[in-house]
Amino acid sequence: MNTNTNILVVGGGGREHAIAKALSKNPKTRIFAIMSRLNPGIAELAYKVLIASETDPEKAKRFCLEYQIQYACIGPEAPLETGVVDALTIAGVRCVGPTKLAARIETDKSFCRNLMKKYNIAGLPEYHIFHSGKEAEEFLKSSDKEYAIKPSGLTGGKGVRIMGEHLTREEACRYVHELKGDLVIEERLIGEEFTLQVFTDGNHLIPMPLVQDHKRAYEGDIGPNTGGMGSYTLPEHKLPFVTDEDYKKAFSIMKQTVASLVSEGTPFVGILYGQFMNTANGPMVIEFNARFGDPEAMNVLSLLTSDFTTLVQAITEGTLDKTEVHFAKKASVCKYLVPEGYPDAPISGGKLIIEPDNKALCYYASVVRDGEYLVTQSSRTMAYVGIGDTLDEAERIAEEAASAVVGPVRHRRDIGTRAVLDKRITHMKEIR
Ligand code: AMP
Ligand code: GLY
Repeated sequence: MNTNTNILVVGGGGREHAIAKALSKNPKTRIFAIMSRLNPGIAELAYKVLIASETDPEKAKRFCLEYQIQYACIGPEAPLETGVVDALTIAGVRCVGPTKLAARIETDKSFCRNLMKKYNIAGLPEYHIFHSGKEAEEFLKSSDKEYAIKPSGLTGGKGVRIMGEHLTREEACRYVHELKGDLVIEERLIGEEFTLQVFTDGNHLIPMPLVQDHKRAYEGDIGPNTGGMGSYTLPEHKLPFVTDEDYKKAFSIMKQTVASLVSEGTPFVGILYGQFMNTANGPMVIEFNARFGDPEAMNVLSLLTSDFTTLVQAITEGTLDKTEVHFAKKASVCKYLVPEGYPDAPISGGKLIIEPDNKALCYYASVVRDGEYLVTQSSRTMAYVGIGDTLDEAERIAEEAASAVVGPVRHRRDIGTRAVLDKRITHMKEIR
């Protein structure tokens, strides 16, 4: 009798490498992967790889039927939007990842804000939805407040522009005309950002350690927004600028949101990711994602000491309330190497020489292997995660590994440093 558990991982980035790595710790788990380009790290762990579009529900379904795949973990948001989970569910595959309708919490920012309003969920900033650039421009001209301007649909985290940070009012009035589809204009929130991810089976929630991501391209939090340059967690799984009360509020917002999706008839099963701005008045929701964060997944999954396969089963079978989940009480620091010129004009095709002797965990992302070299592609290349008893130790491990890579890539040296953490703490004290 076949006692293996067959699990499909959809996606080929650093996050999916971390998912595959966590699954691979169970010797009975057989990993199957669908990705558009061969990720060398996932390829090493997988029993079978299908190179195909990650957003094609039919191909995913056929692959699962052919290999009797029982479970699937969907990494990125794009396959959620195209209904990969809906197709796999019909085929009897249990998915960590929401259906197309439940995924609107991420894929449709207007839906998300309207849902929060309808269910009176805390942490909702003032927001306005516009159907044309003209309406949005008129609104911006009629107000003297600063706003965040967001396309309503998916943009890979790069379409958002904040007045007072990236844009003047005049530039904002021009920018709204460049955007296609509906747009959401929200009050500009001031504070410190943090990420709270939860595992949810649709009814029960289990929180993961708090993470702080770094969206800006350059050290000192300047430059354009990226998918995320790196992130850290602390041994206590909390952050010093998030009080217990803030944390309780944020977790309660996540619970209310999960419950609201049940009320809407579209329960959310998978990973719900809450991006919060901790403001003078407590945590406000910047956005929800319907999946693990990338890079945040690399932090939390590197710390997970419980069996991830068991967790996949509990999430998809609705038994999370009977499942214990543990994370190592250690700090983690993740640093992404990105091609020079990223994100505006990334140089792809750069050859990298990797120093094999380091203590960091390595996750591959947008990179291919060519003989003895790794070759950069146009997105984030690969990440190093340092794990340590303290933040300093974790940072040192990640930094040593990242700075030893030779080739046309760069990373943010400041991520996970004490200096940056102190800056966050001071900022929070100033606004409170
Ligand atoms: P998003 O794609 O919604 O995660 O936005 C990207 C980044 O823009 C966030 O991580 C924040 O740094 C920033 N941002 C988004 N919404 C707001 C807001 N209402 N106020 C201030 N900053 C925001
Ligand atoms: N790191 C932010 C995201 O995955 O959207």
